[in-house]
Amino acid sequence: MLIAHLSDPHLRPPGQLYQNRVDSNAMFRAAIQQLATIEPQPDIVLITGDLVDTATEAEYDLASEMLARIPQPVLMIPGNHDERERFRARLGRNTSIASAGPLHFDASDHGPLRILGLDITVPGAHHGDMDDSACRWLAARLAEAPDRPTIIMMHQPPFDSGIGFIDAYSCRQGGRLAQIVAGYPAVERILCGHIHRFMQLRFGGTMLVTAPSTTTAIALRLRENAAPASFIEPPAMLLHHWRPPLGLITHLVPIGSFPGPLPFF
Ligand SMILES: [Fe+2]
Repeated sequence: MLIAHLSDPHLRPPGQLYQNRVDSNAMFRAAIQQLATIEPQPDIVLITGDLVDTATEAEYDLASEMLARIPQPVLMIPGNHDERERFRARLGRNTSIASAGPLHFDASDHGPLRILGLDITVPGAHHGDMDDSACRWLAARLAEAPDRPTIIMMHQPPFDSGIGFIDAYSCRQGGRLAQIVAGYPAVERILCGHIHRFMQLRFGGTMLVTAPSTTTAIALRLRENAAPASFIEPPAMLLHHWRPPLGLITHLVPIGSFPGPLPFF
């Protein structure tokens, strides 16, 4: 099972730039084109939030049009830049989601790995929260199939990354998530977006990975009180390759065209 993972495209209305500088639409288009060249083709595509930038109808129109070009099922959770009801109305086609409340989903029929979408966004806020209802929902899903290899996807990372200006908007009460997941060794990965950088760490006894954005990268500024900033670094996606009995291998895949192939030796 091969899983492509894109994050934080921040799509804008046609012709408008992200932060007046970056053509996020063209960059997402490039990501989709590159997806189509991966061999073998991924079985599913995950997007860990911030599909659009300001959550207008025009942005979601464009998002729907672009997503329709992806032949695989696309599983998505919203980010802090999305709007929950527009997202629910237009983008939930590949998952069964509730008619009200958070956009959690349990996708069990796309292959050996079960994908749980954990919506910890807080409408109107930039941070996330592992609140009581999110804890209850996740614990119940994991208890239903405790031995099934599982990926949990969520938007805001539940840990302090050391980049202070983004940590102010992380998922609060992350310790509760760590505690739940620690009881289920079959959780192979927690996948996050939001942070616009690749990071990995051990969390709740599993491995947590954050995805780069297809647009800009949050500045890697580990100094205390560093000024918030982003850079136009090379965009990238992740590719998660399920290879039992070994497990799940995560590849970082830059998006773009690069010189090569060169001779192996
Ligand atoms: Fe984002």
